[in-house]
Amino acid sequence: MGLCNQSDGQSGCNRICFVGATRALGVCNDWGWACVGGHEPDRGFCRCIGSGFRILALGPRAALVDGAKDANNRSRADVFATGGNMSVDPKTLAVYNEKAADYAATLDHGGKAGAHLVRFIAAIPAGGRVLDLGCGPGGSAHLMMQAGLDVNAVDASPEMVRFAQSKGVAARIATFDDLDAAGVYDGVWANFSLLHAPREKLSMHFGAIAQALRVGGHLHVGMKTGKGNRRDRLERLYTFVEEVELTNLLRDAGFDVVTTRTGSDIGLAGTNDPWVIMLARKN
Ligand SMILES: C[S@@+](CC[C@H](N)C(=O)[O-])C[C@H]1O[C@@H](n2cnc3c(N)ncnc32)[C@H](O)[C@@H]1O
Repeated sequence: MGLCNQSDGQSGCNRICFVGATRALGVCNDWGWACVGGHEPDRGFCRCIGSGFRILALGPRAALVDGAKDANNRSRADVFATGGNMSVDPKTLAVYNEKAADYAATLDHGGKAGAHLVRFIAAIPAGGRVLDLGCGPGGSAHLMMQAGLDVNAVDASPEMVRFAQSKGVAARIATFDDLDAAGVYDGVWANFSLLHAPREKLSMHFGAIAQALRVGGHLHVGMKTGKGNRRDRLERLYTFVEEVELTNLLRDAGFDVVTTRTGSDIGLAGTNDPWVIMLARKN
């Protein structure tokens, strides 16, 4: 998807339209006149004219790049400051990039699988294929590999992915929105990652996870509990859920909830926050 801020060539009014191939993310910010050989929505970014044209990212699994910095185009807008329609919050990711080393040192599961990870691994067939969605520095993914599972891991933070890769994890940069696999995983481990997705996107993400799983596959999901959305002391943006809300989201996406556990822990921001963890099975 791309956004093109262009004139319609007749009224002289600018308008925003979608351009480019699906999965390409970019902004074409051009204040030249549209004409033959100019902007051609839905035919890609090529053949654009005028000044200020810039592609932020283009291609399959394009990463989110904020090219607005340094742009001198008068009509540029900070598309990503509002999050656009994506499940990515730039401030949250900036925190994870900056604090990846702190996170890895203090919260990366200490080289030993905790009770939730042990239960998840036990629910997966031997050698099964799992996805660590929002893997952080890769501690869980690494432990799952040591348990003999075939692990893919993704995270939107390049620094987190770098840490995970340094542990030998097959991690790559991707966002929740990129999940489009169908029936390939025996398990998805989404440990306190989807709490950074907008509430209105949660049902879509759980639907995509259900689609990615084989029938009978398991999802582990951890979320912070409460109401509404807010930023923490570090500026990370959270979507808080109530237990019943998460149960309903999972049920609506085609899961049976196997276990629900609640508790509270001190995280990177230093506050003691309540959480809920559910293990669910695709029906
Ligand atoms: C609290 S950490 C959890 C990391 C890991 N799952 C763990 O258990 O330690 C949240 C992770 O979600 C990632 N994240 C935030 N928004 C994301 C998005 N839209 N797509 C993919 N990952 C995202 C962050 O970069 C961060 O690594």
